[in-house]
Amino acid sequence: MTGARRAALVTGASRGIGREIAGRLAEEGFDLTLSARGADALREAAAECAKRGGTRVRTVPADMAADDDVQRVVEAHRMAYGRLDLLVLSAGVGSAGPLGNYPSHRFDKQFAVNVRGPFLLIDACMELLRDTAPARIVAISSITGLAPEPGLAAYGASKAALTALCAAVNTEVSAAGVTATAICPGYVDTDMSVWNHDRVPPTEMITSGDIAELVVTMTRLSPQAVVPYLPVVRAGAALWQA
Ligand SMILES: NC(=O)c1ccc[n+]([C@@H]2O[C@H](COP(=O)([O-])OP(=O)(O)OC[C@H]3O[C@@H](n4cnc5c(N)ncnc54)[C@H](OP(=O)(O)O)[C@@H]3O)[C@@H](O)[C@H]2O)c1
Repeated sequence: MTGARRAALVTGASRGIGREIAGRLAEEGFDLTLSARGADALREAAAECAKRGGTRVRTVPADMAADDDVQRVVEAHRMAYGRLDLLVLSAGVGSAGPLGNYPSHRFDKQFAVNVRGPFLLIDACMELLRDTAPARIVAISSITGLAPEPGLAAYGASKAALTALCAAVNTEVSAAGVTATAICPGYVDTDMSVWNHDRVPPTEMITSGDIAELVVTMTRLSPQAVVPYLPVVRAGAALWQA
């Protein structure tokens, strides 16, 4: 290992939940690799992280649906820091629509970014995670992967797969000190949930800060404590509804 400071790789770090997680990790003193597709927004996120924590921050624009990009992010992180204490999988896409002529390309896109990309990324990071252990993986999944909702069949199925992937990681490598958690929130107030403001006002949504706080909490647990998944629901009577 090249440094004593902990290092984290955060996907989906250019906005929303991932950006807030990156900022909180900067405050905690992590060295950071931030990834998403948009280079300009990533640079802004990195500048914010530097202000919040003064950590070393690298940006690596990459598409999580592209195999070569996934490998490139991991290699850039490894070259920069030589260790990986925390892998945060926040890159994700959602596309609502009823069953009956649901476009198959939208299904494919959600599975590519929400499931296939995370699998390839975890796989590519595994040697570094094991060498750094204790190390954590935190995926931002969704409550819709635990309790299905109409109109979100493809998205919910992709998030159920992501949650199952985290559980599988624990069976395989938690004894070696690499543990995984799928955080499963209801609606969080970000760009992704704007389409639903007429049904759920932003003031009733979970905040990105809430999710970032849970990620930091995961980093404080001993490697003996495995949290396979963590539901986070909104206040109100409909407990398991997004
Ligand atoms: N907001 C909610 O209500 C909510 C609730 C439960 C779970 N989640 C999950 O939380 C995660 C973060 O969501 P959010 O609300 O922060 O969404 P967001 O504001 O739309 O941010 C999504 C992030 O993912 C990146 N991204 C999207 N497609 C990508 C791709 N193909 N390759 C690489 N990066 C990609 C985006 O950057 P680029 O577009 O520049 O690539 C952005 O940084 C997602 O996995 C989402 O499913 C969200």
